[in-house]
Amino acid sequence: MRSFCIEGGHTLSGEVTISGSKNAALALIPCSLLTKDKVVLRGVPRIKDIFQQIEILKKLNVDVKFVDHTLTIKSNKLIKCDLTFEEMKHFRASYYFYGALLWRLKDMKVVPPGGCKLGTRPIDLHLFALKEMGVNISFCDGIYEFKATETLNNYLRFPRISMGATINALLYAVSLNKTITIENYSKEPEVFEVIKMLQMMGAKISYNEDVILIDERHQLKGTTFNVIGDRIEAGTFILLGASLGKDLTIHHIEKKHLESLFDILDELNVDYQYEKETMRINKTKSIKPVTVETGPYPSFPSDLQPLLTSYLLTVPRIHLIKEMIYEDRFSHLAELEKCGAVIKRINHNIIINGDNELHHAKMEGKDLRATASLVFIALNINGISEVKGIEYFERGYEDFVEKILKLGGKMSIVGDDVK
Ligand code: EPU
Repeated sequence: MRSFCIEGGHTLSGEVTISGSKNAALALIPCSLLTKDKVVLRGVPRIKDIFQQIEILKKLNVDVKFVDHTLTIKSNKLIKCDLTFEEMKHFRASYYFYGALLWRLKDMKVVPPGGCKLGTRPIDLHLFALKEMGVNISFCDGIYEFKATETLNNYLRFPRISMGATINALLYAVSLNKTITIENYSKEPEVFEVIKMLQMMGAKISYNEDVILIDERHQLKGTTFNVIGDRIEAGTFILLGASLGKDLTIHHIEKKHLESLFDILDELNVDYQYEKETMRINKTKSIKPVTVETGPYPSFPSDLQPLLTSYLLTVPRIHLIKEMIYEDRFSHLAELEKCGAVIKRINHNIIINGDNELHHAKMEGKDLRATASLVFIALNINGISEVKGIEYFERGYEDFVEKILKLGGKMSIVGDDVK
């Protein structure tokens, strides 16, 4: 089995550019199916979840070209078939095909999505939105059957906030012959990227703090769209900079997507400058206790919680993180204990003791961000650590080893894939 072999404790300096956003690209690719014209997406990261999605497009007979980071999609020869492919079960964002394809296929069977195990990850809000907009849904033997009908509400209000369900609702709403109003919607940056691309394709969408208004169906056309930088990869390198950086320069960061992280850096007096999507950051000896609560945007993103946990292990004092999004995003804690971390979990509270000496260890990640947090701590600890869980890590990070080596860190991949 492949694992990371990491010699920690090395300073990171030089320049690194953040790749395109995984979660934005995973929504924009299905969005491209809302027109039969050519859509060009620039800045798409070459990571596992994107390749899974491309496999699904190919099975639907969509023309796809992926050269460097430019993905060209043309779906004029899309075939009618069910979405019960294996690949649908391998990542969470396969749910975007429901909203994006229903207007063309009218009825289809789909398998539920997969994704990292972070407790129960229901799709009830996606189903709620589709039902409100006239989709008949049945579930039998592990397969959903969707049938689009004309009997729809033109007003929907989410009972809870979900990024995925908001995007899915948008993808379906633009194809309907009625004006649709969506309330209690998610304000994650990826939602606004999808709105921006739909507007460029010709959809008439407006929004304010409370509501999104989608005008009745307009013929959508092709477009060229740039994917935003990945805010979680950016957060990873920012925290690495705060603990190991020496003039570490990070490009392609949108500060407004990460204000909650910048607030923590300011609270800890971290030495950084930010200008025009570029950040320069230095290792800073901080000694302040921190309390953080994850939540929907603009609160601190749950996807950075495991990384912040690891970072706070390097900051003396006792810290508290409240994980408010996922009921079971804690699998990194027991692994971090293997390197001497003193962490206590009480319900959704993580209490982190940053005063303890850490030592190298063998650790195993059980999901994408958990593995990232173990890689993070291994880079910070003197000596050689081993981190398993590459298969999860590769879902979300592009060229990470190469980026770290270029900055002066030491890590490699050892072992073979399991056959
Ligand atoms: N939720 C429901 N019902 C639903 C959907 C979500 O109860 O139908 C709950 C979830 O169980 C969770 C919360 O709402 O407690 C957040 O779910 P959301 O729908 O916002 O998340 P998601 O669409 O499942 C996306 C990202 C996640 C990221 C969250 C929150 C993608 C493919 N995934 O997931 O990313 O954590 O939004 O920002 O965009 C990751 O990249 O590691 C990752 C898990």
